[in-house]
Amino acid sequence: MDMPLIIDAGCGTGESTIRLASKYPDCLVIGADKSARRLKRQGLVDNIAGKDNYLFVRTDLVDLWRQLKAVGWTIRKQLLLYPNPWPRARHIKRRWHAHPVFADMISLAQETEMRCNWPVYADEFGRAVFLVTGQPARTELFSPDKPLSPFERKYQNSGHRLYRCRIKL
Ligand SMILES: C[S@@+](CC[C@H](N)C(=O)[O-])C[C@H]1O[C@@H](n2cnc3c(N)ncnc32)[C@H](O)[C@@H]1O
Repeated sequence: MDMPLIIDAGCGTGESTIRLASKYPDCLVIGADKSARRLKRQGLVDNIAGKDNYLFVRTDLVDLWRQLKAVGWTIRKQLLLYPNPWPRARHIKRRWHAHPVFADMISLAQETEMRCNWPVYADEFGRAVFLVTGQPARTELFSPDKPLSPFERKYQNSGHRLYRCRIKL
């Protein structure tokens, strides 16, 4: 595949995938989510839908990251927009940075950006990046001019503080 790859990991209804595709016309943007219900809005048939330079895939992200790693593909940029926070302490292993796939997921992408509305998640994410890469990850408060995804819009409209953690390898 010639086009650089962007992954919108956990894309939900895919609004952010379409925005990213128009922002990066030279890249192929894959919006991946396990929820058929959310992806149905994009005309999902047989777990896949697509147009121009974007594609929706219904899949578990763990499988996607492992398969990309196995075939040696690299990702130019990946976004994790508002991943499920799993706020209960007993569910910590469900947070992406505590999942066994985390090191592979980070190593696959030249750039990773995670956005969330919970400072604990952002802080843990950044620390986990440092543990697996040795590189400090920049975690910052930010305020988007235009929300990229439905969850970003919802949190911004509710007056939540938004955090992002960015890594460049
Ligand atoms: C809180 S929603 C955020 C959706 C979207 N990124 C946004 O900002 O509006 C989290 C999304 O991650 C998806 N998700 C969670 N775990 C997943 C997994 N293991 N594989 C694929 N998708 C997953 C959910 O189905 C859901 O659509």
